[in-house]
Amino acid sequence: MHALKSAITAVGGYLPEYVMTNKILEEMVDTSDEWITTRTGIRERRVLKGEGRGTSEMLVKAGEEALQKRGIEASEVDLVLACSITPDMVVATTAAKVADLLGCKNAAAFDLQAACTGFIYGLTTGSQFIMSGMYKKVLIVAGDKMSSILDYTDRTTCVIFGDGAGAVLLEPNEEYGLEDSILRSDGKGRDYLYVKGGGSMYPPNEETVAGREHFVHQEGQPVFKFAVTNMADVSGEILERNQLSGNDVSWLVPHQANKRIIEATANRMDLSIDRVMINIDRYGNTTNGTLPLCLWDYEKQLRKGDKLIFAAFGGGFTWGSAYLTWAYDPD
Ligand code: ACO
Repeated sequence: MHALKSAITAVGGYLPEYVMTNKILEEMVDTSDEWITTRTGIRERRVLKGEGRGTSEMLVKAGEEALQKRGIEASEVDLVLACSITPDMVVATTAAKVADLLGCKNAAAFDLQAACTGFIYGLTTGSQFIMSGMYKKVLIVAGDKMSSILDYTDRTTCVIFGDGAGAVLLEPNEEYGLEDSILRSDGKGRDYLYVKGGGSMYPPNEETVAGREHFVHQEGQPVFKFAVTNMADVSGEILERNQLSGNDVSWLVPHQANKRIIEATANRMDLSIDRVMINIDRYGNTTNGTLPLCLWDYEKQLRKGDKLIFAAFGGGFTWGSAYLTWAYDPD
C-alpha cells in the first residue's frame, strides 16, 4: 500500500490594483529608486487602498480563483487554513470569515502565524490532514496587507513590503505532492523583527500609538545575515536528505524578502537563476503571500513531476524548506 501524498491541485492569486512605485516612495521618505532597486531588487509593490478593507478580501479572491480553476464547489472543502500576520481583526478568526465568504460551509477553519515562513508551515500542516486521510480537500490561503502595519515615515521598512495573497488547494495523490519539509524556529530572533504594540504584552493605548509601536520594526542587517545563512542551510539540508543535487531541482520557490538573499540561496544550491521563481521586483515582500504568488505567476511553466524546493525565512525567527513534486500540466 502506498502512503498518500498531499498534492497542490490548483493555485489562485490576488493583487490590489494600486501600484506604489519606488518613485512614489521617493516623495514620501528619504530614499531613491536606485537604493531600493540595488539593495532589494524591488521596483514596485501593490497596496490595498480604502477604508475597511482587510486581508480577508485578498484571501477570498485568491481562494475563489483556486476553487474555480479546479472546478469544485466550495462546500466540498474540508479545511480552510489562513496564513497571515495581518488578520482582519485579533478576533474573529480570519479563516472562518474567508470560509464563510467563499461558501465553504462544511469546512473547519483556523489561522496560522509563522511570519514569512507561514506558507511553508501552512503547506506542511495542511498536508498532515491529507496524508492522514482525515481530509480530502484543504484550501490554504496566505497573504498580508502589510501596508496596515507599515510606518510610511520609516524608510528602512516601508520600501520593502507590499500587499497581496495567494491560495493553493491540497488533495490526496498517490504519485506527486509534498515529499519532505523542514520547519525551524529560534525565538531569540524576536528582538530584531517585531510589531511591539497591540498584543497582550502592550495592548493599544495612547502611548503605544504615539510611540509608533503598532508598526513593523526591523533591524535589517542582523535579519539579513540570519536569513541568508538559514535559508541556504535549510535548502541544502533538504536536498541532501532527499539525495538531490541542484541539477535535479526544476524550480526554487524562495521567499521574496530581498533579491540578494534569493541569489545566495540559489548559489548555495548550485542552481542557475533561470530556475528560480522571482517576482519581488513587482510585488515586494508580501510576507505570507510570496510563495503562493510565485506559483501563481509561474504556473504555466510547471509540468507534472517537476521538483520544487520552497525556502523561507521570517520574523520569530522562523524558517523552513519544503520539497514538493508538481502534480499537473498546464491546461
Ligand atoms: N533608502 C535609502 N537609504 C536607506 C534605506 C532606504 N529605503 N533604508 C536604509 N537606508 C540606509 C540606512 O540608513 C543606512 O545608512 P547609514 O549607513 O548612513 O546608516 C544604509 O542605508 C545601509 O543600511 P542597511 O540596513 O545596512 O542596508 P542593507 O543593505 O542591510 O539593506 C534591508 C536593508 C533591505 C532591510 C536588508 O537588510 C534586508 O533585506 N534584510 C532582511 C529582510 C528579511 O529577510 N526579513 C525577513 C522576512 S520579513 C518578515 O518576516 C515579516
